[in-house]
Amino acid sequence: MEILVTGSAGFIGFHLAKRLIEEGISFIGIDNLNNYYDNKLKKSRLSELDNSHNKNKKHYEFHEGDLNDRNFLEGIFHKYNPEIVVNLAAQAGVRYSIENPQTYINSNLVGFHNLIECCRNNSVKNFIYASSSSVYGGNINFPFSEDDSVNHPVSLYAATKKSNELIAHSYSHLFQIPTTGIRFFTVYGPWGRPDMAPFIFTKAIKNRNPIKVFNYGDIYRDFTYIDDVIDVLFKLLFLPAKRDLTFNKNEPKQSSSWAPYRILNIGNNKSISILEFISMLEKEIGIKADIQLEPMQPGDVYKTCADTRTVDNLIKNRCKTNLKEGLKQFIQWYNSYYRS
Ligand SMILES: NC(=O)c1ccc[n+]([C@@H]2O[C@H](COP(=O)([O-])OP(=O)(O)OC[C@H]3O[C@@H](n4cnc5c(N)ncnc54)[C@H](O)[C@@H]3O)[C@@H](O)[C@H]2O)c1
Repeated sequence: MEILVTGSAGFIGFHLAKRLIEEGISFIGIDNLNNYYDNKLKKSRLSELDNSHNKNKKHYEFHEGDLNDRNFLEGIFHKYNPEIVVNLAAQAGVRYSIENPQTYINSNLVGFHNLIECCRNNSVKNFIYASSSSVYGGNINFPFSEDDSVNHPVSLYAATKKSNELIAHSYSHLFQIPTTGIRFFTVYGPWGRPDMAPFIFTKAIKNRNPIKVFNYGDIYRDFTYIDDVIDVLFKLLFLPAKRDLTFNKNEPKQSSSWAPYRILNIGNNKSISILEFISMLEKEIGIKADIQLEPMQPGDVYKTCADTRTVDNLIKNRCKTNLKEGLKQFIQWYNSYYRS
């Protein structure tokens, strides 16, 4: 059974691809290798995949291409006929969406729609796609449950992710495509994204540059270690969404449906203050941070915390790496990759 992973040069896509290679499972990876952040890092991830693949000869191919290019996507589906599709390609980042809205429309709406159309035309049996904890917007019911209302996004990025969930539902209903939308909560770890806090803070601390901390330090995140995310994603490949037989249209749940559709949080159910997070980084790196307290940024949310009961019930004894251990792994990778 062929698997297609989009965004396979990206942080999460790369780790899923690596796991598939390690498990000896055939798949195709695609990515447009855009310059949103350091392109060299994306290319290094691809080289790392090639190295792992050389040791394990199952079928793996990478194709550079864009979700916006319908002909490219149709060619991939025609050639490989994937039955499982994992969409991790997207324009990520909350703050960037304020200055560059069109990129989000192109990749996250037009690109997403091109992909799900290909899934429809090729009778894909399991479509998994990245949503985000950002869809919870101004929600102040902690922890965030998949059944909370998410109709008040505070960034265009969040609005595109919520739109993906709505589009997915219509395709699950009309064409019986099993769809699973994953709301990731601040994923971190080796090969992580240079535009995210763990990376930005680490780089600044090591270079002895000041760190900007928004909302005057009163900001909280539920950090999720990459291996824990991949553990769930890998298992979901073989657990497509099913119809919810208990679904009641008079009291509709948000996270499931009469159609084969579901929404899952992947987080840790532990929210920690950014200042505490920085203090853990300082200890791991062995250098004191120079913290500059700043007002809240437009588009940002004050606190995230995942209600993880749905994923915990679905996947028993899933891995939950503690933050201290996860940061240790991240810093070790950072030191060896940047030889610092
Ligand atoms: N990392 C997190 O903490 C986090 C949190 C919430 C949601 N997400 C979502 O998870 C998914 C993966 O995130 P990530 O952290 O790996 O991001 P990433 O930016 O590292 O990876 C995304 C990859 O997709 C590629 N891409 C972007 N637009 C494309 C297009 N139009 N066609 C083909 N390729 C394209 C990029 O080149 C990149 O390599 C994204 O949808 C992101 O919004 C991530």
